[in-house]
Amino acid sequence: DEAFAAQNFLKRWVFLQQTDSTNLEVKRAAAAGDWGPTLFVAEEQTAGRGRRGRNWSSPPGSGIWMSLLLRPKLRPERASVLTLVTALAVTDGIREATGLEAAIKWPNDVVVKGKKVAGILTEMSTDMDRIEFVVIGIGINVNTESFPEEIQSVATSLAIEQGKRAARTPIIAAIWKHFAAYERLFEATGSFAALKERYETLLANRNREVRVLDPDGEYTGTAIGITEEGELLVLRDDQSLTAVRSGEVSVRGI
Ligand code: BTN
Repeated sequence: DEAFAAQNFLKRWVFLQQTDSTNLEVKRAAAAGDWGPTLFVAEEQTAGRGRRGRNWSSPPGSGIWMSLLLRPKLRPERASVLTLVTALAVTDGIREATGLEAAIKWPNDVVVKGKKVAGILTEMSTDMDRIEFVVIGIGINVNTESFPEEIQSVATSLAIEQGKRAARTPIIAAIWKHFAAYERLFEATGSFAALKERYETLLANRNREVRVLDPDGEYTGTAIGITEEGELLVLRDDQSLTAVRSGEVSVRGI
């Protein structure tokens, strides 16, 4: 508790033994007038959700399932940058608390040795073209001992990678410490520019071949960095440069 209070960022922290989804907890709290920043952490989720409407397996004890209620003073079209800020904080938090070399798979997966350990699901509620609130949901596989065979080549946990169980509280504390600092910098400058260098340092796709699937079709190239708006810069095989927006595309390593 002290670790959280000390950061002076989270106004409230709610721990739940079981819930449907911490993202839904945030939406209910926001509807009831909670101003945030409020953090919900659950031991178990019975209806955890991932991106693209997928299920997010959230059994008791094996992971960190948490969501933040935030009411940022941002235009809705810039809110996606918060997901990048979160990816930075989760990656740095995991590195600090475990020593593992976590990296970011653009835009918002956290990987260790190329396999996913954490995912982020950001949702936004707007009213008259203004942000009412944002939900930042984070799922981290911490002590999961094994994954179904179909996903063993793409998913892992901190315990699998470090060969021993990991304590969750220090990881949570480190993540919100980094988030508070990055978010302050982002708000103060109104831009992602100050965070771009750190993000690129942690970018697992950097200088890697990627295949981009977007509404215009499919192409391959090399990921060379990100823009200040958080787009992935891809140097295409025909030597043209494209800024790829998240949400519109799927990027695969090849
Ligand atoms: C992804 O698909 O990679 C995003 C996964 C996000 C999972 C987290 S767990 C806490 C929060 N509550 C949910 O229902 N989802 C997010």
